[in-house]
Amino acid sequence: MSGVWAVLVAAGRGERLGGERPKAFVELAGRSLLAEALERLDGCPWVDGIVVAAPPGWEEPAILVAEELGAGKVSACVTGGTRSRAESVRICVAEVPDGADTIMVHDAARPLVTDAVVERLLAALREGWDGAVPGLPIPDTIKRVRDRAVVETLDRSGLVAVQTPQAFRAVVLREALAAIGDDATDDAAIVERHGGRVCVVEGDPGLLKVTTAVDLEAVERLLAG
Ligand code: CTP
Ligand code: MG
Repeated sequence: MSGVWAVLVAAGRGERLGGERPKAFVELAGRSLLAEALERLDGCPWVDGIVVAAPPGWEEPAILVAEELGAGKVSACVTGGTRSRAESVRICVAEVPDGADTIMVHDAARPLVTDAVVERLLAALREGWDGAVPGLPIPDTIKRVRDRAVVETLDRSGLVAVQTPQAFRAVVLREALAAIGDDATDDAAIVERHGGRVCVVEGDPGLLKVTTAVDLEAVERLLAG
């Protein structure tokens, strides 16, 4: 497959993690979440180019991260959206060249991306799906609750927890973004709402999302092996 571009969104403030700097610039084991994710995507043999979204005022530090890593696939580092993640995705996708046939959207908040996950996503697109997302079975029982009262206990067997990166046929993602607002937190949901066929591939338990300090410690432990 040719023309696989990665969009790496790192423009969030990291309010739930707290601290002085945006979450993507918080360090684990001596390097930032952004550096970890970027090095992995840049080293991935199937990724041809990368666009990074940085928080306003953090564009230069983000470029520096890419330079220090020698991440030669980074073509642009743009100012992300201040309103939502979807806005950052939209800004990055606009920077992806027209020739790209696949766009893979990833969060700096999930630093431990692997070639194996990317390979599974791209294999699904080659099968003809419009989009592919990594998913894992949900270990906990899930209940719908209203004003503390349980309304419903869901059947867990049909549910998965979805991760990033998420890969899409570029034309489908662009059309869906053009048709739909900036409210979705999940890129695949935008494509699904626009009629795209999205498939779930096996996720990776190591692909943890850093939301709070506890998650940061968990990712650090995984990195230490
Ligand atoms: N993100 C982004 N632009 C935004 C909001 C989020 O690029 N306007 C990115 C974050 O940098 C992160 C990913 O989207 O890599 C997932 O978002 P989340 O985990 O919510 O990160 P933050 O928004 O930074 O954290 P918080 O919600 O706690 O402020
Ligand atoms: Mg957020």
